[in-house]
Amino acid sequence: MFSKKVVVSTLLAALIGVSGAVNAQIKLVKTTDGSEITFPEKAFAGTDAEKEFLATGKNIYVGDAEAVKMGKKRYNLWSCTQCHGPTAKGQVGPGLTGPKYNYAKDQTNKGMFETIWAGTNGGMGGKGFGIMAADDGVTVDELLKIIAFVRSNGKITGNE
Ligand code: HEC
Repeated sequence: MFSKKVVVSTLLAALIGVSGAVNAQIKLVKTTDGSEITFPEKAFAGTDAEKEFLATGKNIYVGDAEAVKMGKKRYNLWSCTQCHGPTAKGQVGPGLTGPKYNYAKDQTNKGMFETIWAGTNGGMGGKGFGIMAADDGVTVDELLKIIAFVRSNGKITGNE
């Protein structure tokens, strides 16, 4: 438990640049303009899932029942339900289970993360921590769980 925390905080420390912002090892880019996404330190909880995502773009919460359950709660809390429907099949906003997407990259968890974190030009604002307000928003770990819930309603895992 303790050592896991140390490993993750060491990893985050290694990723924090002079500006105090965290950069992923993989390049994460905004769906709006393709510019790189950097994260405030507060966007992280220090989990293994974050570490894996920043290194590889894979979401280890997909298929994990406990994480999916938490993701469903967050999906409701952040009002995704109102626009995308209770099982992400679409309502005012588009369905999120694929395989067709407005943004083809949403077939991958990396792409879907980028779309939700920083928003789109076609009608959805970014939900990521620090995007809407300096001290509010979905954290990286929460968003990975939300995506795991979205994937649980469809056939693709996003980790293909
Ligand atoms: C106020 C309504 C609204 C809310 C709340 C909302 N969305 Fe959206 N979302 C939209 C609309 C409209 C689009 C289509 C935007 C576009 O095509 O550019 C969209 C697009 C998306 C896409 C891209 C789908 C595609 O076809 O590529 C994803 C993924 C997504 N939303 C996930 C979420 C998640 C997860 C949440 C909650 C954290 C959320 N949205 C909250 C309205 C909303």
